[in-house]
Amino acid sequence: MRRFIVSSCLALASALGPVTAATAQDLRLAVPPALIDSGLLDYVVPRFSLKTGVRIDVVGAQDSADLALTNQTAGTPVFQGPNAIWSLMILNTGSADAARFADWLSSEIGRRTITGFQIDGSAPFSPPQAVRAKAVAVSFDGDAALGKTLSDDLCGRCHVVMNEKRMNDIGSTPSFFVLRAMRDWDSRFQSFFALNPHPAFTQIQDVTPPFPIDRPSPIAPVEMTLDELEAILAYVSDLEPADLGAPIEHQ
Ligand code: HEC
Repeated sequence: MRRFIVSSCLALASALGPVTAATAQDLRLAVPPALIDSGLLDYVVPRFSLKTGVRIDVVGAQDSADLALTNQTAGTPVFQGPNAIWSLMILNTGSADAARFADWLSSEIGRRTITGFQIDGSAPFSPPQAVRAKAVAVSFDGDAALGKTLSDDLCGRCHVVMNEKRMNDIGSTPSFFVLRAMRDWDSRFQSFFALNPHPAFTQIQDVTPPFPIDRPSPIAPVEMTLDELEAILAYVSDLEPADLGAPIEHQ
């Protein structure tokens, strides 16, 4: 219905003469020139419009708009690529369509659309680390003692998880002490199962989808419940963070 109204307005508008600001219903999305030049929006916007019937006008960063994409720290991070994290700000908070675009962009489909945009076979944009996977709600009041055992059993294959085994540190996999020292350690643990390399071998009951049939876990899988993750979180929250000197940004 909405699509019909929009397209008939457009037909009417173009019949009446040059359309300057398209129609009143169009969402106006302000975008800095560098992002416009990337071509990402030419790819993403029509796909959103096709799904929802909501049309979007991409306008310059200084123009009045309902929504703005910016590489400043305001707004909600929605994707990252080349050298910047891009956030979406809703300027017209009364617009249901603006909210809809924001929801869509951070939904599974929106995220897949962002990585679907490719230049010469590589995807310059990806969902930002922090929102790549919605962290599941896990609190810190799990059983820390159980968490220690679970960390050892489930994660200790790769990570140094306790003082007693610090000597076993073998380079590339960050220890739990190093991870604990990160500002956002908790959200990393809450979503670790969606962060590489874990998705290939991790199953959280009732949370993760089964492994794809053509890509079974290459190693004995880590299988656990949310309660167990909660226990691990409680354990990790009590760990003393590694002293890393300067703040570290883990990639
Ligand atoms: C088979 C090896 C393996 C197992 C088992 C494993 N991890 Fe990891 N984990 C890694 C590696 C390798 C990295 C570093 C990835 C990187 O640097 O990109 C990592 C990184 C992490 C990170 C940081 C992720 C990020 O991107 O910030 C967290 C949190 C984490 N692991 C938690 C866990 C927990 C909790 C368990 C046990 C339930 C576990 N891991 C089991 C190999 C493993």
